[in-house]
Amino acid sequence: MAKRIAVLVGSLRKESFTRKIAKELIKLAPATLEMQIIEIGQLPLYNQDYDEAPPQEWLSFRRQISETDGFLFATPEYNRSVSPAMKNAIDVGSRPYGQSVWEGKPGAIISVSPGIIGGFGANHHLRQSLVFLNVPCMQQPEAYISHVTNVLNEDGTIKNNDTVEFLRKYINAVAKWVETNAKRN
Ligand code: FNR
Repeated sequence: MAKRIAVLVGSLRKESFTRKIAKELIKLAPATLEMQIIEIGQLPLYNQDYDEAPPQEWLSFRRQISETDGFLFATPEYNRSVSPAMKNAIDVGSRPYGQSVWEGKPGAIISVSPGIIGGFGANHHLRQSLVFLNVPCMQQPEAYISHVTNVLNEDGTIKNNDTVEFLRKYINAVAKWVETNAKRN
């Protein structure tokens, strides 16, 4: 059976480059993965006071995540870290204490930037949270998509065949990673 992968896109921008790359990865994924973008922009900002009566959006997000076998985090870089939307989604999923929906499921990260270092800072900051959340995170191949404005066509497709092949190799590795590290219930 195909493994269900929640794709989290850290940018809320309509024309987000990160979302465009995530969509291309979904197209390139092997049949062993069933990938779906789970939206995070609607989630109220995490506030511990709401834990006793959580907003519907939190409950629905936690349910969606708990129904998946693994995660792909597609992140832009904001001030050398992840966007607030991405961090909020991670925090919302991590609570209530002891009931984290991330616990023990495999993940992978791809970072995207118009800049030269491809969101390295965001990519590695995110790894720090995933260590704490016990998400085994794929280490190789690493994916830092730099100069993304040169990578994408206007319609969101990839310009260069080498990049397509890199993304194909990456998502095939994610499929193997998820297969190997899937949580056994
Ligand atoms: C940025 N940007 C940015 N880029 C980068 O490579 N490193 C960084 O630290 C930052 N910091 C940063 C902070 C904030 C608040 C914004 C709004 C932007 C630029 C960023 O990479 C660019 O806006 C991308 O287009 C964002 O990704 P999406 O929205 O295209 O997916």
